Amino acid sequence: MDGLSTILERRSCRVYQDKPVSEDVIHNLLKAGMYAPSAMNSQPWEFVVMQDAEKKEAVSQIVSYWSMLKKAPVAILVMANINGYRAKPDEFFVQDCASSTTCILLAAQAQELGAVYLGLYPHEDRMKKVREIYNIPEHIMPFSIVSLGYPESTSNPHTTFHTHKVHKDEY
Ligand SMILES: Cc1cc2nc3c(=O)[nH]c(=O)nc-3n(C[C@H](O)[C@H](O)[C@H](O)COP(=O)(O)O)c2cc1C
Repeated sequence: MDGLSTILERRSCRVYQDKPVSEDVIHNLLKAGMYAPSAMNSQPWEFVVMQDAEKKEAVSQIVSYWSMLKKAPVAILVMANINGYRAKPDEFFVQDCASSTTCILLAAQAQELGAVYLGLYPHEDRMKKVREIYNIPEHIMPFSIVSLGYPESTSNPHTTFHTHKVHKDEY
């Protein structure tokens, strides 16, 4: 799939085939997450590869609309290490991790996986529970989860171009 089609055809996928995702494919997802743009090239991200069924099940119960995690063969937890984070303002780690998450989503699409972005940060309750399950220290901020697997079905690409959202040279 060419780069533009990967972006334009991406949709969230929440139902997966019972088919494992290889370590090579996971490696590419992590590489995409690590190659994302970040403020001052700070690269604050760290990742937990979520494959343990019991722990995934526990995470799936944190929020009712995270149930897809139970059947996802793998998910990637994106986190920010804020120790010594050098970009100012400090909150740029949010954009950094969002860009990392998006790169993982696109790498999933490029490898014919289905994926969905699950929002964690800044919900303190979700972050606390995820911290407990994966034994994550305080200076590491759980940010998002990308749930992944080979798609059981696919959604049609978006088609609408919202001209009213585009302004030329002046608002
Ligand atoms: C910050 C953020 C949090 C999200 N959280 C969830 C979630 O908890 N559960 C879920 O099923 N989808 C979640 N999504 C996916 C959105 O629902 C989805 O991207 C949106 O409906 C647009 O659909 P599309 O991805 O197919 O274009 C989240 C997306 C973002 C960017």
